[in-house]
Amino acid sequence: MLICGGEGLIGRNIPFGIKVSRHELDVLKRDHIKRAFEKYNPSGILYLASVNLRDSEKDPMHAYRVNVIGINNIAEEATDAKIPMIIVSSGAVFNGSLHDKFNEVTNPDPQNIYGQTKYLAEIVARWSSPDNLVVRTGWLFGGLSTKDRKGGFDIMIEKTSKGEDVKASSDQYGSPTYSKDFFLALRESIEKNMSGIVHIVNDGAASALDIVNEVKSLTGSRSVITPASARDIPGPKRSASEAMVSNVFYLRSWKEALREYLNV
Ligand SMILES: NC(=O)c1ccc[n+]([C@@H]2O[C@H](COP(=O)([O-])OP(=O)(O)OC[C@H]3O[C@@H](n4cnc5c(N)ncnc54)[C@H](OP(=O)(O)O)[C@@H]3O)[C@@H](O)[C@H]2O)c1
Repeated sequence: MLICGGEGLIGRNIPFGIKVSRHELDVLKRDHIKRAFEKYNPSGILYLASVNLRDSEKDPMHAYRVNVIGINNIAEEATDAKIPMIIVSSGAVFNGSLHDKFNEVTNPDPQNIYGQTKYLAEIVARWSSPDNLVVRTGWLFGGLSTKDRKGGFDIMIEKTSKGEDVKASSDQYGSPTYSKDFFLALRESIEKNMSGIVHIVNDGAASALDIVNEVKSLTGSRSVITPASARDIPGPKRSASEAMVSNVFYLRSWKEALREYLNV
């Protein structure tokens, strides 16, 4: 499995695959793609190159290029090589109210540029080949880091367990998902040659406030937690819920996974 965008949060921490950086495989450069396919002769390609929520809002055209055109570039090469492409998408494609949960057949209705590019990416991936797979996952935690940054939920979890004060929103829901569980299910979906759309999330929805409160109660930390509204946190408009369920995978609850991660 060749992994492009291999130096990001998921790429650096995923326990399988040949990981290549933007330097070696820029998804916008056809010659890079051809060279990488010739060099590695992969049996599948996992697309992790991405422009995130904030940066997508700042430069929508760049987000569109990396999140959508790049997928098209890789999909064409993968189809020629008769190998599947797997892309990782997110709950940001959905729109709903606080306690809604979305499954694989729910119609997307993205609310911001990032979500729009992810939805377009899904369409491109699925139309390019019936063998391609779209995996949507939730708010990943579990020690994800790159050489110069950590995942947002890992930062919150670490601060809370160290007893530092934390502000967390109570009015936006998602699916907290332990990276270890995500990687195992992702591997299974690839080994079983799944195609179409699958959700890989731990069971149960939560707000960021629920997550830090759970960390506090599990670790007995003395951190002071201040509830906030998602509206007060700078950034683009988001759905009140990005929480997902799956008709394919049933993973343990996020609370159980968090307990194992914290080793308490
Ligand atoms: N992390 C999560 O919690 C989460 C949750 C749900 C879904 N996802 C999805 O999973 C995928 C990967 O997420 P992530 O968190 O690993 O992202 P990330 O940490 O932002 O990493 C993205 C990577 O893409 C690379 N990249 C950017 N432009 C590129 C290009 N033109 N060619 C090749 N590589 C390029 C970046 O390299 P440079 O740094 O060198 O630019 C970076 O290493 C994304 O599609 C994201 O939507 C992530």
